[in-house]
Amino acid sequence: MLEVAATGKAQALVDRARLWARHAEMARFGATPLGGVNRQALTAEEIDGRRCLIGWARELGFAVSMDDMGNLFIRRPGSDDSLPPVLTGSHIDTQPSGGRFDGIYGILAGLEALQAIDAAGIATRRAIEVVTWMNEEGSRFSPGCMGSLAFADPARTSDLSAIQDLEGVTVADALAGLRLAFPDVPARKLGFVPAAFVEAHIEQGPRLEKERKTIGVVTGIQGTRRFVVEVRGENAHAGTTPRRRRKDALLAALRIVAGLEKLMRDPEDVVRFTIGRFIVSPGAPSVVPGHVLFSIDFRHPDDAVLEMRGDQVEPVCRKHAGKCDVVVKQTSRTRPIEFAGLVPETIERATERLGLPHIHMPSGAGHDAQNLVKICPTGMIFVPCERGISHNEAENAKPSDLAAGARVLAETLVDLATR
Ligand code: GLV
Ligand code: MN
Ligand code: MN
Repeated sequence: MLEVAATGKAQALVDRARLWARHAEMARFGATPLGGVNRQALTAEEIDGRRCLIGWARELGFAVSMDDMGNLFIRRPGSDDSLPPVLTGSHIDTQPSGGRFDGIYGILAGLEALQAIDAAGIATRRAIEVVTWMNEEGSRFSPGCMGSLAFADPARTSDLSAIQDLEGVTVADALAGLRLAFPDVPARKLGFVPAAFVEAHIEQGPRLEKERKTIGVVTGIQGTRRFVVEVRGENAHAGTTPRRRRKDALLAALRIVAGLEKLMRDPEDVVRFTIGRFIVSPGAPSVVPGHVLFSIDFRHPDDAVLEMRGDQVEPVCRKHAGKCDVVVKQTSRTRPIEFAGLVPETIERATERLGLPHIHMPSGAGHDAQNLVKICPTGMIFVPCERGISHNEAENAKPSDLAAGARVLAETLVDLATR
């Protein structure tokens, strides 16, 4: 059992303190006063974080490359480089109120695993690459999981490149800025079929901590529909315009939100419905607001529920718009997906060999793995985070749990890359 002996050697060289120190170092890029991170996709902060990551990779002797959608790869060669590599990784971007672990953990655990495998002197048949997917969060450019979406389906490149942030900057322009920042990182063609993809991530929910388990072997991800709703009224003088003459976009939007709340009501509490962005314009105290823009994030594990209730969003908005016009645009749609077979089975075997308590569990959050599963065997490793808090500056995790996940990852990668 050469493979098992080899993998056992790699996981033993995962260094908890080093992994923790790299998280602390990364948290400097986009650090917020409350101890969190605001490092949104393709911003200066995110580019600084990438520079740091590239520096670590090169110090360790690993080659880096970047594709047309800004996905960054760190490669440890295999003994047969004609074979497709095994990929692992996650994202470096955060929400505006992000924490120190969402996304970056999967990259740093990947780098730690690569370093440990290298230090153990293990020659894998396939190369192993740690990937940083561009714009997973979707807070600056919507939809999220954009880099992995284009990687799995390069035909999406042109429509995704035209997407704008709230300031009107396109993805294409932001990517041009990224390339300018890294002239010495070789370009790589977008999209290939990896041998497998493994993503390590903090759970972002309370279950592992509550059940005192160290590892979640992820069984799937619920589906999502995201919308942008624009309510168009008319700016008017707050002192002179009688109520019957007003087209108040804010009051219409509030009625619409109440209608949507009712549409999404669920006694089982399985429906996830969130309005996270709500912009009132012009936003002046003495102007009746003529314009409101808000977002809808709707998720469910059952695609039929997503289909039926999601299709009611636009009619409900129209019904409550009154004298205002309303435009509803769906900005993303993902089906619920399942992880099964090679990768979850390899993760589970590694977890058992290491004697770590684990459960099988679905993911409530979206991840880049949901795009990779369309093209190659894919799976995810969850580790606990404090009180399940995430998308919050207070997000926290234990160094020992992060290291345990990296050990499982190292074992899993060696196993997959030896096939
Ligand atoms: C990813 O961060 C998500 O919102 O699920
Ligand atoms: Mn994430
Ligand atoms: Mn996130």
